This record gives sequence, C-alpha cells and structure tokens, in this order.
Amino acid sequence: MINEITARELNPEQFISEKVNEIRETVGNGIAINALSGGVDSSTVTMLGHRALGDRLKTVFIDNNLMREGEPEAVINSFRKLGVNVEIVDAREEFLTALKGITDPEEKREAVTQTFYKKVFGRIVKGSGAKFLLQGTILTDVDETVAGIKRQHNVFEQLGIDPQEAFGYRILEPLIQLRKDGVRIIGKALGLPQGSFDRIPFPGPALAARIIGEVTKERLDTVRKATTIVEKLLVNTGAFQYMAILHQDRVTGMRDNKRDYGQQIEVRCWDSIDARVATPTRLPIDLLEKLAGEILEKVPGIVSVTYNIAPKPPSTMEVV
Ligand code: XMP
Repeated sequence: MINEITARELNPEQFISEKVNEIRETVGNGIAINALSGGVDSSTVTMLGHRALGDRLKTVFIDNNLMREGEPEAVINSFRKLGVNVEIVDAREEFLTALKGITDPEEKREAVTQTFYKKVFGRIVKGSGAKFLLQGTILTDVDETVAGIKRQHNVFEQLGIDPQEAFGYRILEPLIQLRKDGVRIIGKALGLPQGSFDRIPFPGPALAARIIGEVTKERLDTVRKATTIVEKLLVNTGAFQYMAILHQDRVTGMRDNKRDYGQQIEVRCWDSIDARVATPTRLPIDLLEKLAGEILEKVPGIVSVTYNIAPKPPSTMEVV
C-alpha cells in the first residue's frame, strides 16, 4: 500500500530533503542511473537524484525513435544549462525492430518495456556498474496498472515483478506517493525552468501510444508531424494535455479531383486535474478549423482530421 501525498498537503522542502536522504542511504557509495525523457516526472526525478548523488547519478537520454520533433536535442540542452550532463544513447533501430508487426496495444507497450528495461537499460547498467535505476513512477501509473486499465511501462513491483530478478538492478521510485500536480510542485521547487515542469504530460511509450496499429518509421513520421502542429496550435489553451493520434483505417478522400484513399488524424485535447478523469476541451471552432487546415496541408497522406468529444472514462487519454 502506497501512502498518497496530495498536492494540497505536500510540503516541497520537507519532501525533497526526505527523498534526498533516502536516495543517499539506499545508494550508499554506489552509482545510480536514470533515463531522462524530458517529461515532468523524469525531469523532476533527475534533479532530485542529482541533488542527492551529484556525479554518482549518470543520466542518459535514450533515443528510441518514438520522441517528438527535436526532442533529444532540446532536452539535452535544457539540462546542460542546469548543470546536468546527459548522455544520448541511440537505440532507434532496436525499438523499431521490437515493434515490427505488433498491433495489439498491450503487446506494443510490452515491446517498448522489454526493449527499454531489458535490452537497452540492461546493457547500459551492466556497462556502468550501477546497481540502481532511479525512475519517476507516480501514483497514477501504479493505480491504472494495478486496476488492469493500462500496463504503464514503468510499473513492476506492484505487479509482483522483481526488477532485480528480471533485469538485474533495483529500481528507486521517489515520486511514487505523488500525482502529477504534486510532481509539478516538486519540479518547480528543485529549480526546473517553467517550460520543464509545466509541460503537458507525454507517455512513456511516447508516440507508440499515439499510433493505432503497427508502429513503423513512416507512421511515426506522420504522427510526429501532426504532433508538432497540434502542440504549436494548442499551447495557449490551458488544457491539461493535447495530442495527435494516427488511425489505422483508411478513408476515402479526394485530392486534385481524384479519389485519395488516405489516412486520418484524430486530435485530442483534455481538461483534467490529475489524469484520472478528463473531459475534452471546448475548443473554439476557428481553432479546430485551423488545426485541420494545417494538418491537411503539412502532413502527407492525411485526408481526414477529427476531434475527440468522448470523456475519460470510458475513454482513456491515449489510444494505446
Ligand atoms: P490514459 O491514456 O491512461 O493516460 O488515460 C493518463 C495519463 O498518463 C499518461 N500515460 C503514461 N505515462 N507511462 C507514463 O509515464 C505510460 O505508459 C503512460 N501511458 C499513459 C497519459 O499521457 C496521460 O497523461
């Protein structure tokens, strides 16, 4: 049973000093490793870990081919400014190979998990001599996994999986009592720049969670382009999260007076406090039209753009 700390009862300074001490005690004189994706949770845990361990925390950015446009460079530069050195690990081909031919959502998550934790991380941890992996799992990840809603890629112990046995290292999860709103408060208190701790959430399986059907290099490029447009046009809406989804079904469209059997992008934009429940944002129709126009113009092969109007539940925020 994990004791939740709500954003309201959270005392940031106290929380940080407790967790820093816990990390120091557990890791002792050893080294730990963490993977930074640039999301709120992993950025916060990176800062917390560096405060506790300094250079004895090695931070890597795993380029899995599933990230958004320009993301690896942006994340590395922003942490360099904070005095944290991040090493890029190129695992693009490895992830594509693991995802080849998979269409089932849970199998897709499992392929990302196994490639990340077993193959890529297993290798890095072995090479570095680290015994600990520091990771930014939060309570919502655990809840949804245990409830069987979605297998979050970073949850193991609560499912009876011993990471030491399965992967050969221990996992430390200092944010596990918090939800997203609490993590943002801690991130801010640790000195993350505004753009880092108030970013919209982005899931662990990254763009693979935004593709219905097989994840291929081409389909990733399509959803990545649409994502750039959606994020640019919806940044000032104040919404909790917004995303582009690539559908699997093709639909009849027309281009240059000819039939074009094309692809569809679904736009989702969510109002939510903590991601447990969510409702679609009431976007102005002008903005929706602008989204459609830009996606149809700039993303090759798209003939249809839809806006999701179903709340969570019964929907979930991502499609995978
Ligand atoms: P769902 O789709 O479950 O998403 O309604 C709820 C929130 O969680 C994010 N999400 C994830 N975050 N690892 C994460 O760290 C994951 O595997 C994962 N799956 C979904 C999602 O973006 C939303 O904010």
